[in-house]
Amino acid sequence: MMSNDEYLLDTLRIRQFISLVRAKLASAPPAAALEALRPAFADLLADQEWLPDDYQQPSVTGGMGSGIATWLIYRAAEGDLSLFSLVVPPGASTPIHDHLAWGLVGLYAGEQDEIVYQQQAGEQADQSDARLDAVEHNHLHPGDFYVLTPPMGDIHSVTTTSPVASVSIHLLGNDTGCVWRHTYDLADGARHPFRSGWSNVPCRKET
Ligand SMILES: [Fe+2]
Repeated sequence: MMSNDEYLLDTLRIRQFISLVRAKLASAPPAAALEALRPAFADLLADQEWLPDDYQQPSVTGGMGSGIATWLIYRAAEGDLSLFSLVVPPGASTPIHDHLAWGLVGLYAGEQDEIVYQQQAGEQADQSDARLDAVEHNHLHPGDFYVLTPPMGDIHSVTTTSPVASVSIHLLGNDTGCVWRHTYDLADGARHPFRSGWSNVPCRKET
């Protein structure tokens, strides 16, 4: 079978997981498919054997700043699916950002505080000014994960609270590092175009 899918981490574990994801997505809408994938994703977070140390290291050149790394594990040829690890050093925080895709996001190592934001009533997604309310504060331990179904839970920031870097695993329905999304400035509500890039692979030519 011809495919330009990229497996940066090319192991049987990852290929089997992605095959399962594709099978579920082929047989149900994304929200139902993600629900069906909960057990497999929980297994992935519980298994400390499959993710190499390289994918659990911060990066000084990461597009999110503060030493934060985005290590691509897999992405689909069509740009409609990616699997990656996000590494946030101790004490560091991501900018407030969105993802613009459905997905599964869970903690693999370390601990995080997460603040989830919502645009204030009346704000439209296409406005550059999108004032935010903090609607949820979560403390995440390894194994904790959530189903992301935008707009619910799509805007957040995370801070590592453990003495070691936090590592979270993301399965998202886009080429997350390469799509243009947004960061948000809480002080004045400004929204900025944002592309995080990947720490280990360039983005493809823009379409
Ligand atoms: Fe995020």
